Amino acid sequence: MTTILVVYASDYGSTEKMAQAAAAGIVSVPGGVAVVKKAEEVTAEDLTGSDGVLVGSPVHMGSMDWRIKKMIDTVCSGLWMQDKMNGKAVGVFASGGGFGGAGGGVELTMLSMLNNFAELGMLIVPLPKITPEYKKGGLQWGPYGRSADEDMQHGGVGDEVLALTKRHAVHLTRAAAVLKDQAIFSA
Ligand SMILES: Cc1cc2nc3c(=O)[nH]c(=O)nc-3n(C[C@H](O)[C@H](O)[C@H](O)COP(=O)(O)O)c2cc1C
Repeated sequence: MTTILVVYASDYGSTEKMAQAAAAGIVSVPGGVAVVKKAEEVTAEDLTGSDGVLVGSPVHMGSMDWRIKKMIDTVCSGLWMQDKMNGKAVGVFASGGGFGGAGGGVELTMLSMLNNFAELGMLIVPLPKITPEYKKGGLQWGPYGRSADEDMQHGGVGDEVLALTKRHAVHLTRAAAVLKDQAIFSA
């Protein structure tokens, strides 16, 4: 059994849809178990009881949603003190509104999340460009779902992005299964 915790924040449903797609990817891997939680609901036991973690955030003012950061600062920081998350697999995904050519802040959102998880000693699972659905929302850091067009007309994230998010979760689950119970960082 490989248990993956999917953590997300969402106001309008796009990041939540991506979280559900990730869960579908996790359970498609033999032995994969998905635990899906909103950031405010996550406990230390959810994190320590998982073999890997996928975290999804909307882009808010060019950076991660405050609820994700609150979870990191209030729940993850205690686990950092105790070295409880070292060696677990981690991946991220994000949803942004766009506006203009791309929308601002998605890379910063993903990178700032990954930076926090690197502090926890977690092993980052990126999204390589060989991933079949990469052309639709792929960034090397993880899947990006654009929920609006260049005029900020909201349409939600597309099916291709959901397929990409599912695939990323498959990759992460496979990585977590391999890493599980390996004392990567032992002396
Ligand atoms: C307070 C706030 C700030 C936002 N800032 C950005 C931003 O800086 N860049 C961007 O691309 N989208 C921005 N958006 C748009 C959201 O990222 C986008 O609508 C996203 O898909 C919402 O995800 P959700 O449906 O899961 O809530 C912002 C939305 C809100 C509510």
